[in-house]
Amino acid sequence: MSNLDAQLCASSSDPEQANSAQSPSGLAIISLSASVALISRLPPALAALLAHLPGIALALLLSSLGALPSPIFLLLLVSFSAALLAWLWRLPIWWRYINLCFLPLVGMTLYLQSSPGGIDANWFLAAFLLLLLTSFGAIKTRVPLYLSSARAAEALALRLPEQGRLIDLGCGLGGPLARIHTLRPDVHLAGIEAAPLNWLISKLRLFFSGARADIRLGSIWQADLSAYDVVYAYLSPAPMSRLWAKARQEMKSGSVLISNTFAIPDVDADEIVELGDLSHARLLIWRL
Ligand SMILES: C[S@@+](CC[C@H](N)C(=O)[O-])C[C@H]1O[C@@H](n2cnc3c(N)ncnc32)[C@H](O)[C@@H]1O
Repeated sequence: MSNLDAQLCASSSDPEQANSAQSPSGLAIISLSASVALISRLPPALAALLAHLPGIALALLLSSLGALPSPIFLLLLVSFSAALLAWLWRLPIWWRYINLCFLPLVGMTLYLQSSPGGIDANWFLAAFLLLLLTSFGAIKTRVPLYLSSARAAEALALRLPEQGRLIDLGCGLGGPLARIHTLRPDVHLAGIEAAPLNWLISKLRLFFSGARADIRLGSIWQADLSAYDVVYAYLSPAPMSRLWAKARQEMKSGSVLISNTFAIPDVDADEIVELGDLSHARLLIWRL
């Protein structure tokens, strides 16, 4: 329980503390806790964006009062308050840094774009479309695109039975599947991917590598896991509990679930393989 939660519990059970809830600091704690409860129901990306609003309101207020602070001061005011709110709202730690850097980077980009010989606006459109096609779903799924290392694929290849079947849930750009095909051409490979561009790249990559892999466009929650000896997932902390429930329901006895890096809350892995790469990644293995 955090300090904040502890103070709230105390204030609801102890009359003296309850009185302190009438004080400005008590009220501030209660409103902060209420806003944390409200915000925790939103996707973190949306919450991080909303964290800019109070700073923007303050900046507008200062400007309307004729204070006319410099644009850089206003930019920093909004960024720092957004980072502070990300912390108070208990968003994952990286949102503090993202909120701190987001507006200054936008400002810098606009400055570069408007300066003579600046960046052509079409590049921004291209970058936006690329992000949309590869990562738009991450707002909802909370699983962005990042890639398994070759070591992860090699460790997976070692754990596959002869003529075994493996599915990569959220197969991204198809890297691990292509590498496994090179090392273990006997294995039947499958992948499912929600982002259209990732799916297409994965499909073409596997096709041109000569693997007859079954690469589908769709959600991992639609995949039937019962046919596979190994189910591989490199996702994020967000879907792991749900994935474990699905694995227990569908995977056959003797098969294994392997997660790159992300643990299943409250379920110890049967084996952990340190990959020894720069990102300190590891494979967590559960036997069903
Ligand atoms: C961290 S990447 C891993 C890519 C690949 N498996 C690898 O190891 O290199 C996660 C991928 O899962 C995809 N993804 C996330 N949630 C998904 C879902 N519910 N259904 C299908 N794909 C999903 C994302 O689009 C992303 O490409």
